[in-house]
Amino acid sequence: MLEQVADVLRAARRALFVTGAGVSADSGLPTYRGMGGLYDGVETPHGRPIEDILSGRTFQRDPELVWRYLGEVERACRSAKPNAAHRVIAALQDRMEVVVLTQNVDGLHLDAGSREVIEIHGTLRRLRCRCGAREEEVDYSRRRVPPRCAACERIMRPDVVLFGEMLPPGALQALRVHSDRGFDVVFSVGTSSLFPYISAPVLDAARRRVPTVEINPGDTELSARVAFHLRGRAAPTMTAIARLLGE
Ligand code: OAD
Repeated sequence: MLEQVADVLRAARRALFVTGAGVSADSGLPTYRGMGGLYDGVETPHGRPIEDILSGRTFQRDPELVWRYLGEVERACRSAKPNAAHRVIAALQDRMEVVVLTQNVDGLHLDAGSREVIEIHGTLRRLRCRCGAREEEVDYSRRRVPPRCAACERIMRPDVVLFGEMLPPGALQALRVHSDRGFDVVFSVGTSSLFPYISAPVLDAARRRVPTVEINPGDTELSARVAFHLRGRAAPTMTAIARLLGE
């Protein structure tokens, strides 16, 4: 199957990689669901489901509580480096146009050098405030958490999509523009694909008979629908593909 996937990539001019927490698992970051996932056990020490705590509504009422949990995610991300999967996806840009649609807020695809990255759930690296102030490339090691706005002293929030919030319109628009142009191959790497806007590009491609590849050690609702399910971890699997391509 790896050989067939490598053949597909050899012929492709435009590729879409849809990625989730599993692509960063090989960088040591926890996933959200599944073994060792952040949402495992569902109840938080505060006795509320994590979806309730990490929500836009809770942020309005109790931003410090939300930051206690976001702070943990941020600390895990801070020391993380891109792994071979991020790097191989970036290196493929030398051969073809590569678009990355990621749910990850860790910025590792950008660190690896991917240029066309749609961060559909936002990024922890930007902060914004209700007063309109924004901070880019935040260095949390030099900030107190929760971070406060230099202009109005309110607690700022990271530019991520919390539960119950809308997806960023710019990201949706970028996805639409790229999808209209079409892809020669669509990958789903390390995501449970629970959200319709994440599974749709893969299912649409499969319907149009565009080659589809899933890289995931487990099964998802996509597994039976893709042309190739590579049942393995992202980093070693992408490395094996790169080798076959002579990279
Ligand atoms: P999940 O935690 O739901 O799924 C992680 C997926 O990665 C699972 O299907 C695992 O089997 C797979 N996996 C685990 N280790 C892997 C590895 N080394 N290589 C490849 N795959 C591996 O994460 P997401 O699908 O990203 O949203 O979750 C989607 C969204 O749910 C997140 O962005 C977050 C959460 O609610 C928000 O916070 C808005």
